Amino acid sequence: MYDVLHTPGTAGEVDGLERIERRFTGARGGSAPTAPVWLEPACGTGRYLRVAAGRGRRVVGFDLSEEMVGYARARLSRLGHARRSRVFVGDMGRFADRVPWRVGLAFNLINTIRHLESDKALRAHLAEVARTLSPGGVYAVGLSTCVYGAEMESEDVWDARRGTMRVTQAVQYLPADAGDRVERVVSHMSVRTPTGGRHIDSAYTLRAYSLAQWYDAIAGSAMRLEAVVEEDGHDAPAPMSGYAIYILRSK
Ligand SMILES: C[S@@+](CC[C@H](N)C(=O)[O-])C[C@H]1O[C@@H](n2cnc3c(N)ncnc32)[C@H](O)[C@@H]1O
Repeated sequence: MYDVLHTPGTAGEVDGLERIERRFTGARGGSAPTAPVWLEPACGTGRYLRVAAGRGRRVVGFDLSEEMVGYARARLSRLGHARRSRVFVGDMGRFADRVPWRVGLAFNLINTIRHLESDKALRAHLAEVARTLSPGGVYAVGLSTCVYGAEMESEDVWDARRGTMRVTQAVQYLPADAGDRVERVVSHMSVRTPTGGRHIDSAYTLRAYSLAQWYDAIAGSAMRLEAVVEEDGHDAPAPMSGYAIYILRSK
């Protein structure tokens, strides 16, 4: 269901990642076994990895969820990418030993890094990413910063079909306060197929960062900030409130 909802638009996002790769790693392609390597921590269904593998990259991904990993691996394999891909069940806190190739571009988009619940967990994660990178490698982190007390409750709605399945999801974002730094995300999803339908409610939390907190967290880690870009890879001012992609390099 996640893949049905979120795959549309993925190829365009991978165009942006390719521009980031060209601009910050200098990679110019190559064929397996020397093809550039992309790593996605918390890869979910592997929607980015499938497109990247189809465009000649070797890809590595991992996720806490066995179901997500099973789906990602099966789709990569069905597309003929088994040899150029590795996908495993793993935690963002500890994974570097299991990454088989040195990585040119690691990436973590749409606020997924905010699943890490503390600065300590973020530092451990960035240290692990730094261990996987080749000397010219970078980590592209897509994250929204916030201004405490000024954020409004907001909602996104997605609607998508694949074959005979239709999935609709409404997601509410309940802003964090400066004290607990916990944003609540509440999801209402409905799935319809010719044989019936069901409704699934769920909720999770994301750690909130002001821009200053995010910069402090990077400064205390194994990585340093090299640039701030938009999804298309061009420079952007770092927003006090809103989404940007932060390009990090090992110190
Ligand atoms: C919003 S999904 C993003 C999936 C994928 N990156 C994408 O953009 O399609 C967030 C994913 O993070 C995974 N996740 C959350 N915490 C994690 C952790 N500590 N280590 C690994 N994966 C984690 C979840 O299982 C889920 O698949």
